[in-house]
Amino acid sequence: MNEAVRTAALRLAAAQIENAEREAAWMLAALLGVRRGDLMGRRLNLSEQAAFDALIERRLRREPLQYIIGTEEFLGLDLEVTPAVLIPRPETEVLVKQADFRLRRRSDVADIGTGSGAIAIALAVRGHRVWATDLSADALAVAERNVRKHRAAIDAAGGAVHLRQGDLVEPLRGLAFDAVLSNPPYVADRELRALQPEVRDWEPRMALVTGTDDPLHYYRRMAAEATPLIRPGGILGVEVGAGQAEAVEELFVQAGLTRVSRHRDHQGYERTLVAETATS
Ligand SMILES: C[S@@+](CC[C@H](N)C(=O)[O-])C[C@H]1O[C@@H](n2cnc3c(N)ncnc32)[C@H](O)[C@@H]1O
Repeated sequence: MNEAVRTAALRLAAAQIENAEREAAWMLAALLGVRRGDLMGRRLNLSEQAAFDALIERRLRREPLQYIIGTEEFLGLDLEVTPAVLIPRPETEVLVKQADFRLRRRSDVADIGTGSGAIAIALAVRGHRVWATDLSADALAVAERNVRKHRAAIDAAGGAVHLRQGDLVEPLRGLAFDAVLSNPPYVADRELRALQPEVRDWEPRMALVTGTDDPLHYYRRMAAEATPLIRPGGILGVEVGAGQAEAVEELFVQAGLTRVSRHRDHQGYERTLVAETATS
């Protein structure tokens, strides 16, 4: 193993940071602009060592690795991430796959609370036309750069991403969709302090908490406000927090949605719900 990585990994491990070696190697590879496999035997000069130490210090302060290296992979897409956006998670890939599986090519899709643009871009490179909203102008700036980064693949697939700033579906009034998708905030304000420090202290609060004591606040709003924008037989698909699937299913049924299905993430938790609007 690279000597600088070994020393850094010991410091990270001593601070109870998991996967210390892998994380240290990722940071050094990102710093040097090389692949992790090419680190073997690579010695650092003084300024490289100082820059690497600075990255390790940031990680010791519990800043997430992805903000330090500036990227995260989502369904094979390399996405820029900054502290203005939630780091896309593997469980969200299930929502994209479920939606794409049900939709015809070139469907009209809304992604509410797009953050980095992960859901929107993943569907656009699969040939769908996506309207993506977020309340945060800073998040939309990151999403816009990610759309630009993947422009060639989006165009080649015949897809599109239109970004709009505003509250939930508000910027989409007058449009109709085959699917409305969302991974909204689902943590009640009082639950925030129980989250791990990487999430609680670094990811955008607006992406995490509902701003109320109701963890289901945004699912209630989505059921009421998004459903009227969905064409008959179209879908409302959401990611939910662990343990929320049953309550959200009930909400959706009460809102007149049908054929609700729940889907498990890679760890076996029901984290994705897909419901349909009536056909007439
Ligand atoms: C959990 S993050 C999801 C980000 C991204 N879709 C993903 O799955 O990685 C929720 C996103 O919703 C946005 N948001 C929060 N409240 C909102 C609102 N009222 N209207 C629109 N977007 C909102 C946040 O800024 C954040 O980007």
